Amino acid sequence: MHSKNAPQRAPSKLFTLNLLVKSFILLIVLGTGFSVLIMYKPQYIDLHSMAMRTISMSWSPAHCADEGTSLQRWIAPPSNLTHSMTDEELFWRASFVPQVKKYPYNRTSKVAFMFLTKGPLPLAPLWEEFLKGHEGKYSIYVHSSPDYQPDFPRRSVFYRRQIPSQVAEWGKMSMCDAEQRLLANALLDVDNERFVLLSESCIPLHNFSTVYGYLVHSKRSFVGAFDDPGPHGRGRYNHNMAPEVSISQWRKGAQWFEVDRNLAVFLIHDAKYYPKFRDFCRPPCYVDEHYFPTILAIELPHLLANRSLTSVDWSRGGAHPATFGGRDVTEGFLKRLKGRQSCMYNDLPAAVCFLFARKFSPSALKPLLHFAPILLGYGSEQRLFE
Ligand SMILES: *[C@@H]1O[C@H](CO)[C@@H](O)[C@H](O)[C@H]1NC(C)=O
Ligand SMILES: *[C@@H]1O[C@H](CO)[C@@H](O)[C@H](O)[C@H]1NC(C)=O
Ligand SMILES: *[C@@H]1O[C@H](CO)[C@@H](O)[C@H](O)[C@H]1NC(C)=O
Ligand SMILES: *[C@@H]1O[C@H](CO)[C@@H](O)[C@H](O)[C@H]1NC(C)=O
Repeated sequence: MHSKNAPQRAPSKLFTLNLLVKSFILLIVLGTGFSVLIMYKPQYIDLHSMAMRTISMSWSPAHCADEGTSLQRWIAPPSNLTHSMTDEELFWRASFVPQVKKYPYNRTSKVAFMFLTKGPLPLAPLWEEFLKGHEGKYSIYVHSSPDYQPDFPRRSVFYRRQIPSQVAEWGKMSMCDAEQRLLANALLDVDNERFVLLSESCIPLHNFSTVYGYLVHSKRSFVGAFDDPGPHGRGRYNHNMAPEVSISQWRKGAQWFEVDRNLAVFLIHDAKYYPKFRDFCRPPCYVDEHYFPTILAIELPHLLANRSLTSVDWSRGGAHPATFGGRDVTEGFLKRLKGRQSCMYNDLPAAVCFLFARKFSPSALKPLLHFAPILLGYGSEQRLFE
C-alpha cells in the first residue's frame, strides 16, 4: 500500500505544480491585457463621448448641449414654481448654503418680493408700473389660499408666480409656516439676496432704483423687534417657553419683515424655537408678531435694524391699522406719508425710512396710479392726464 501509493502521489504533485505554473502565466497574461485595456480605455471613452457630443450638438441648439452638466444647472432659477415637495423636503433643499463665498459668475443680487395674500392682488397694476424695466433685479412669489386660482395674463409679472400654498390663519402658526414657505421657495433662486414680505394691501413708496439700492446696500435686515412691557407685549409671554426663550428675550414686531439671504436660511431651518412658539403662543398671543422678531433678536441681534420698512397707521386705534381707500389718497396724503421721517440707516441718520406702506383698499388703485409718477417716482406720466 505504501509503495503503491508513493508513485501515485508523485505525478499528482507534478500535476499540481504544472497547474500552478500555468495559472501563474495565465494570470500574468490576463493582468497585462487588463492593464493595457485600462491604459487605453479613457482614450476610448473620450473619443466615444466626443463623438456623442458632436452628434448631439448637431441635432440640438447649442445652448442646450451643456444643460445639466454646466454651472447653469446650479444657478438657473426654477422655471416652474409648481413642485411636489412637502414643506419638510422643500425646507431641507432650500437650506443649502455654498461654503465658497466668492461666486464663480457675475451674480446680480435680486430682491424677492413675497406676497402673502388670501386671494386676488387688486394693486397688481401699481406693482407692474413699479417693476417695469427692472427685469433681472427682482423676482416675485405669491402665497394665496390653496383654493384660489389666479388668472394673471401672460405679460404680467405675476403670471405663474404662485407657489404651492396651504391655509394660513391670522395669528396662528400656519401663518409663520406660509412665511417660511415663501422664503424657502425664494431661496431656491441663488440670486435672490433680499426677501421682502408684503400683503395685497401694500404699495411701494419710492421708485425701483431707490428701493433696490436701499435693500442691497443695507448692512442689516429690517425686522421690527422691540420689548413691549404692556399686556400686548410681555403680557403674551408664556413661562413654558423657558429656557429657550426668557421673558427678557421676548420681542414683538410687525409681521411685514425684510431679511437678507443669511437670515432667510436661519428662519427656515429653526427647529429649536419652533415647537415652543407653536405650543405656547396661541391667540391672544399672535405668533406672527413674535416668532421671527424674538428668535432673530436672540440669535442674530447685530444683524437687525430693529425697524420695519412698511409704514402703517395705528392712529385710529383698535386691533387693525387704518385702511385707506380712494377718497383718502390725495396729493397731501401721499406727501405726508413720504415726509417727516428720521431713522438710522447703516449707522447714519437717514431721510428715507419707509419703502412701503399699507393698508390700501382696491378703490385706492386709481388715485395711486394717477399720483405715482410725480409723488412716488414710478409709472407712466400719461396717467396724469386721465
Ligand atoms: C409645472 O409643474 C407642474 C408639476 O410639476 C406641472 O403639472 C405643470 O404642467 C408644469 N407647468 C409647465 C407650464 O411646465
Ligand atoms: C464678469 O464681468 C466682467 C466685466 O463685466 C468680466 O471681465 C468677467 O470676465 C466676468 N466674469 C465672469 C465669470 O463671467
Ligand atoms: C429714483 O428716485 C431717486 C430719488 O427720488 C432719484 O434720484 C432717481 O433719479 C430716480 N431714478 C429713476 C431711474 O427714476
Ligand atoms: C437691535 O437690537 C439688538 C438687541 O435686541 C441690538 O443688539 C442691535 O444692535 C440693535 N440694532 C441696531 C441697529 O441698533
